[in-house]
Amino acid sequence: MNVLVTGGAGYIGSHTCVELLESGHDVVVVDNLCNSNAKSLERVEALTGKSVKFYQGDVRDEALLRRIFAENEISSVIHFAGLKAVGESVAQPWRYYDNNLNSTLVLTKVMTDVGVKSIIFSSSATVYSGDNEMPLRETSRTGGCTNPYGWTKYMTEQILSGMAHADPAWSVVLLRYFNPIGAHESGMIGEDPRGVPNNLMPYITQVAVGRREKLSVFGNDYDTPDGTGVRDYIHVVDLAKGHVAAVKYAAEHTGCEVFNLGTGVGYSVLDMVRTFQEVNGVPIPYRIVDRRPGDLPVCYADPGKSAEKLGWKAEKNLRDMCRDSWNWQSRNPMGYGE
Ligand code: NAD
Ligand code: UFG
Repeated sequence: MNVLVTGGAGYIGSHTCVELLESGHDVVVVDNLCNSNAKSLERVEALTGKSVKFYQGDVRDEALLRRIFAENEISSVIHFAGLKAVGESVAQPWRYYDNNLNSTLVLTKVMTDVGVKSIIFSSSATVYSGDNEMPLRETSRTGGCTNPYGWTKYMTEQILSGMAHADPAWSVVLLRYFNPIGAHESGMIGEDPRGVPNNLMPYITQVAVGRREKLSVFGNDYDTPDGTGVRDYIHVVDLAKGHVAAVKYAAEHTGCEVFNLGTGVGYSVLDMVRTFQEVNGVPIPYRIVDRRPGDLPVCYADPGKSAEKLGWKAEKNLRDMCRDSWNWQSRNPMGYGE
């Protein structure tokens, strides 16, 4: 199949391009590079020995999207393009609503016009409300988001499921990611955040490589085994494979379906620090600071529905995630920026 990947130069997108190409699909990418580097796609090509057709531009640019669909026979779209920094979304809500909602609205308008009605969307565990019991199932309560980023994911789910409800020709797959970390085992592609990392693993790897002095652990007084926050970390290559499974699912089913992409296992911040140090033999100095506002104590998935219906299951463990994160960062201390 020929798959259009929006945001394909980014962290999860580039890994998904590799898995799509290696499964025999063709890939067209549209990305405006607002949070990525075109080098990631050169490396995807080098890794797979296959070419990626790249359009540099904005998904909100309707004329560009019409051109892409006219020039390529697209069967399905994976929609990664979006802004994703929670704190930034609180400071710049309009920019987040504009980018994340209008990209989806323009994309699906053009898809409707050209008759391509298969879309896989990057949603997030952040759409679940904070008062659920663990593990989170696809039927757990959603809404009550605590920031504009989370609302854009929630609203996009509403938009896409409403479209599938109104027009039975649509195939919509909403993938709720838990915490993606790690990198391709080659160390050629990986996560390259701009500025100070918001997320735990890129912060740890930047401490390890000497770009940051110390990790701040946000709170050790949660009701968890060691008092630090617990999350469901998933290797980005497993996550990418989940998208290949979703493309197949969308080709075989119409309607709207939601899937968790997680491992079902939670690890604490200190588990992460300990495992990273042990696997890689690199010290991670840290200090305990106050809780980060808005953080949940514990969050992990029930991945049972994905196993049953998508035939997908995460295969890599925490040691693989720590090893591959460090392999990427140590080979590329400044990310794609050299
Ligand atoms: P990323 O920033 O590395 O990738 C997103 C890509 O989209 C970037 O290459 C960026 O340049 C591009 N982009 C953004 N707005 C665009 C626009 N209007 N037009 C064209 N390109 C645009 O982020 P990622 O970690 O790879 O995340 C991919 C998707 O998964 C995002 O939608 C994100 O919200 C979602 N997600 C990520 C996580 C996570 O922890 N990484 C968790 C849950 C959901
Ligand atoms: N943490 C630290 N120090 C840091 C960074 C994080 O102690 O410097 C802790 C957090 O408090 C949390 C855990 O590490 O307990 C994981 O934090 P991340 O920021 O890596 O991930 P979150 O679970 O907070 O957020 C992620 C994505 C969001 C998404 C959310 C829910 O980054 O986009 O999962 O799916 F909304």
